[in-house]
Amino acid sequence: MDFSDAHTDIVSTVVSEEEIAKGLARMARAIEADLADKTPLLVGVLKGAIMVMADLARELRIPVEMDWMAVSSYGRSTKSSGVVRILKDLDSSLEGRHVLIVEDIVDSGLTLSWLLENFESRGAASIRVASLLRKPDAMAVEVPIDYLGFDIPNEFVVGFGLDFAERYRNLKGIGVLNPEVYRDEA
Ligand code: PRP
Repeated sequence: MDFSDAHTDIVSTVVSEEEIAKGLARMARAIEADLADKTPLLVGVLKGAIMVMADLARELRIPVEMDWMAVSSYGRSTKSSGVVRILKDLDSSLEGRHVLIVEDIVDSGLTLSWLLENFESRGAASIRVASLLRKPDAMAVEVPIDYLGFDIPNEFVVGFGLDFAERYRNLKGIGVLNPEVYRDEA
């Protein structure tokens, strides 16, 4: 879906389809340089990371394996607690693996912080993080991001995997959602 198909729901473009492709290619080159001979296990964090995973993995010119994890914070109101529930665990063992966590966005950083701690306890040889987006002004905890696409303003953005009420994930670019949309849904 293009922005033009979303009518007035998107008020401005934050990262265009073309910029996303360039950002993912840049990230892929850096990942290849670090992990070429390691056959990394890419771990996508559902559901937002599906588009990043699909495009980043295809951009990589090295062998990789893929797995998926689904997590949920205990409700929006308690998100700041950083308590995360596993909805779907990995199928693979992390023992001795070079893991690359693939995220669409690091917002408060709490999900990633929890994942890093959880994965460290599973015996991975190394753990790196790739995230297409980061909101520096929203970060509540410092988390390392080894491969970053773009820093973006602290606004409600959707598209390329990011949703509002499960919608807009299929937008090809990333844009700011018109506040009218969440007023309508409230
Ligand atoms: C988003 C995103 C990250 C997390 C980042 O997922 O995909 O996993 O939030 O936020 P944080 O840095 O504040 O922890 P979300 O919980 O919206 O689920 P979804 O990917 O299924 O949309």
